[in-house]
Amino acid sequence: MTALAASAGSRDQQADVFVIFGITGDLARVMTFRSLYRLEQRGLLQCPIVGVAVNDWTVDELVGHARESITATGEQLDATVFERFAARLSYVSGDFADTSTYQRVGDAIRGAVCPVFYLEIPPFLFATVVKGLSEADLTKTGRVVVEKPFGHDLASARALAGELHQYIDESQLYRIDHYLGKMGLEEILYLRFANAILEPIWNRNYVEYVQINMSESFGVQDRGHFYDPVGALRDVVVNHLMQVVAAAAMEPPAGSDSTALQAAKVALFKATRTADPAAYVRGQYAGYRDVAGVAADSSTETYAALRLEIDNWRWSGVPFFIRTGKCLQATQTELRIVFKQPPRLGLGVWGDHQPGPDQLVVRLDPSTGIRFDVEARRAGVTQPEAITLDMEFADEGGEGPTPYETLLHAALIGTATRFTRQDGVEETWRIMQPLLEAPPEVHPYEPGSTGPDAADDLVADYGGWREPWTTA
Ligand code: BG6
Repeated sequence: MTALAASAGSRDQQADVFVIFGITGDLARVMTFRSLYRLEQRGLLQCPIVGVAVNDWTVDELVGHARESITATGEQLDATVFERFAARLSYVSGDFADTSTYQRVGDAIRGAVCPVFYLEIPPFLFATVVKGLSEADLTKTGRVVVEKPFGHDLASARALAGELHQYIDESQLYRIDHYLGKMGLEEILYLRFANAILEPIWNRNYVEYVQINMSESFGVQDRGHFYDPVGALRDVVVNHLMQVVAAAAMEPPAGSDSTALQAAKVALFKATRTADPAAYVRGQYAGYRDVAGVAADSSTETYAALRLEIDNWRWSGVPFFIRTGKCLQATQTELRIVFKQPPRLGLGVWGDHQPGPDQLVVRLDPSTGIRFDVEARRAGVTQPEAITLDMEFADEGGEGPTPYETLLHAALIGTATRFTRQDGVEETWRIMQPLLEAPPEVHPYEPGSTGPDAADDLVADYGGWREPWTTA
């Protein structure tokens, strides 16, 4: 829809109203109210908020629900801040399939020049709502923010974008991947591009392999209905963990605008070979099939381990191993760069000591930190040994806003770098497509373990999986 390209200028504008479709739902209860409240507290919320949902609520009921939701997250409520926040709220009740709903939304936001519409609704409703907004003439300017999933494979991702592009331009569409709001992810970029000592070694001449680990000690809990048709590959690999791959492997963006960053990411994805099902291991934790909403004979993976190859001058020949799973030993997400093995120290008192490879770890969860694993010889010890140089961001006053605060704020001020673009989304589906089409058998594993043994074969030539740097 090129006619709307004229609205691209609005991308850099502050929202003058924030409209939330699905404000009575789970995501709002668990994340949105708290994030907006915290933005209010930090003086970063500047506009009215209009909630839209089918429930027949009054504004007072919405305010009461917001208060309860924020308190239930454990946030200490400051009465003055909450009052300021509550004063921004208004509510439109209506069916999303009904044109009169959009007329009422139009009345509620009259005069706004940069409305931001946030669709906290299932993806099958995206097109209905965007069409309704467009037909009510509300999307000429402003932005539409949507939540994952963006399709369930390459074809459906294209179809979804095709539907939305009938009404709004790609530049108006902000797709949330909450990993792009994580401090650790941004830290990877700063670490790489703000430090001259790292750039010369951040390539195939010095790096042996890269391992991205996202383990969770909890299961799918009450999300069986959502999770069973999805599985680990679609739930976290194609989106969140591919964003970690991009941050770790892309070239420095050629400028500070969002298109430069997106272009660098997409170039990296394009250089990534389509994944090979022979280098993909799936697992399912014992007890998963008893979860409500999960099929009794489900073969959905709750664990995925795979190897990716990037065919460019920086990374050719360096495998990227990705491993994720539910009900594993620990909850920990990290990027680990493992450098090449140094030669044997055939000299002096060290005899034939074989030093291990240096490693650099960026931890993304549950807190942000950086660790170097290096060899050093301590007093009283004859051989060099591995030592760690750690830095916890929280100790340096560095643990910042939550991902959703960061992302909602970015959507309100029009910072597109924090969101995914359609060509990137399609590239990541292209990479994973063979794994979706020919999924290997699913191996059972015990809750609390490190996953199925079958995954060890993937890294057998690389000394096995490196267990994550835990906070304990
Ligand atoms: C979500 C997935 O997108 O990300 C969940 O649906 C997963 O299954 C979650 O647990 C992990 O994100 P975080 O930020 O809680 O580590």
